[in-house]
Amino acid sequence: MFSRALKPVGTLAVQNGAKSFSTSPQRNFKVVVAGAAGGIGQPLALLIKQNPLVTQLALYDLAPVTPGVAVDLSHMNTVAKVTGHKGPEELPAAIKGADLVVIPAGVPRKPGMTRDDLFNTNASIVRDLAQVVAEQSPKAIMAIITNPVNSMVPIASEVLKKAGCYDPNRVLGVTTLDVVRAAAFIGEINGVDPQSVQIPVIGGHSGVTIIPVLSQSKPAVKLTDQGKIEALTKRIQEAGTEVVKAKAGGGSATLSMAYAGARLANAVLRGLNGESNVVECAYIKSDLTEASYFANPLVFGKGGVAKNLGYGALNAYEQQLLKEAIPELKKNIVTGEKFVNK
Ligand code: 2OP
Repeated sequence: MFSRALKPVGTLAVQNGAKSFSTSPQRNFKVVVAGAAGGIGQPLALLIKQNPLVTQLALYDLAPVTPGVAVDLSHMNTVAKVTGHKGPEELPAAIKGADLVVIPAGVPRKPGMTRDDLFNTNASIVRDLAQVVAEQSPKAIMAIITNPVNSMVPIASEVLKKAGCYDPNRVLGVTTLDVVRAAAFIGEINGVDPQSVQIPVIGGHSGVTIIPVLSQSKPAVKLTDQGKIEALTKRIQEAGTEVVKAKAGGGSATLSMAYAGARLANAVLRGLNGESNVVECAYIKSDLTEASYFANPLVFGKGGVAKNLGYGALNAYEQQLLKEAIPELKKNIVTGEKFVNK
């Protein structure tokens, strides 16, 4: 999946259709996966180990198997040196010197649960990880996969604010799986390679807050019937639950989430490496709507988010979806902020 990144720096590369050109020297990056022994963490680490921009890959988890996962991956003949770090006392060493900390740590959903039901368990995990990032690598970019993402990004942001090192361009919620799913489903409907589909998904990462902007799909979605557009929108919003149900108690999406997380990590690293026009959607601090965090297409650069591209024109149906999403997003954000500031 990293054939684009394998191109020598200084050549033209294409990301989401945008031409990108870099003249800066290739940097060596340290990436941390926090929650590396879990269902998302292991395949995510496997994918990041294949990224040629990564020279150090630190795997952190509470699970005793973590050093073993690191040894296992270290036998792959790719450049990244892998280290394993088990338990909170080994966390500072894992985080120190990190450019990017990807966080899938926490518990997943079981059938019947919403992402919000995970809040109590996962909030303290993300809070404590953010604290160590503040202490060890305050300039690292955090990419949060842990659910509920809509609340976890505000939690990490509040922790970094308290520590005096908050940079809103460096704290991201990973919504890439919504984009990946939308592109997969549109590819199927249109009968085209899903990798060729460009589709912004905006808002947040749960239920009604997931807003696929189908009117902006390239190529255009081959659906004219509004009922079918609405059914596709619902499917994208509920795709995580589709996986939870299909796994029948065995957890939520892990492999597709790892793929999506690695795709976002690659965009962040390419931006840090000096490429221009690297575009992906992510959930960040935002003043575009009444919700103080919001996902939409962003340009990544040397300091994390370099430019917020906004969400463009929405049709009447999408505007209605946005209206429904905002109160939910605001509620999720306040829940996260209150958790840290209580
Ligand atoms: C999902 O969307 C796990 O939140 C994740 O499936």
